[in-house]
Amino acid sequence: MKISTVQFCPELGQKEENLKKIYSYIDSIDSDIIVFPELSTSGYFYTDKKELAELAETSDGSMVVVLQAKASEQNKIIVVGFPEKDGDDIFNSSVILFPDPSLKAVYRKTHLFYKEKFVFTPGDSGFFVTEDSSRDIKIGMMICYDWRFPEATRSLALAGADLIICPSNLVTNVWHKVMPARALENKVYLAVANRIGTESKGEEELFFNGESAVYSYNGAMLCKAGVEDERVLTADIEPKRTRDKSFNPVNDIFKDRRPELYRTK
Ligand code: ACM
Repeated sequence: MKISTVQFCPELGQKEENLKKIYSYIDSIDSDIIVFPELSTSGYFYTDKKELAELAETSDGSMVVVLQAKASEQNKIIVVGFPEKDGDDIFNSSVILFPDPSLKAVYRKTHLFYKEKFVFTPGDSGFFVTEDSSRDIKIGMMICYDWRFPEATRSLALAGADLIICPSNLVTNVWHKVMPARALENKVYLAVANRIGTESKGEEELFFNGESAVYSYNGAMLCKAGVEDERVLTADIEPKRTRDKSFNPVNDIFKDRRPELYRTK
């Protein structure tokens, strides 16, 4: 099974342009799963909720309708990060569309980063997994800064994820130390679809550092993009291989857990 991540530069406020690019990538990439970065339709750096609201979509809006049609007609799984409107709230969300429309799911970013707190509502979806039995894969999502919380990947792995998808707009480099460890300690595939480019607000500039990557369940890097290049990465994955959590005849990373001794507070 093939997964592709699309590393590109969403243009701030240029939703139609960004969507054109996203649709064109979907049509041209021959993979089972195609993943786009966080807030791919809007760009990232907003401090004014009204400005962001103009670009936000509901989870059954026209963009999701188009993406669903593409997922069904082209037999692909598609993940896109977007600002999701729900009443007065805007969530930093990623939608996952499967060929079977009944599987559609939306993850709302749990841990808001920096000035996202000015414009987004903290996500309420929690960490969940969607199973596509036609491809025999279970997929979970988190978004960018969620990586700093090992509970995110662990929750997804405990829910049965074979593959964790992480649409991102990363602005530090420290995540490279952690992502492979999250894959290894949970024995799951992990795909980080990061963006490139810079965005400014007043004096402040954010640099998005690319280097999207797909990690295997043993922590090995399967592929990695450059810091500044627009790039499609493609990796082969075998979801079933993540399900036996043993790593020698005696140890199993899930059966060996001692949750009664762990703290959550
Ligand atoms: C981030 O969560 N976009 C850094």
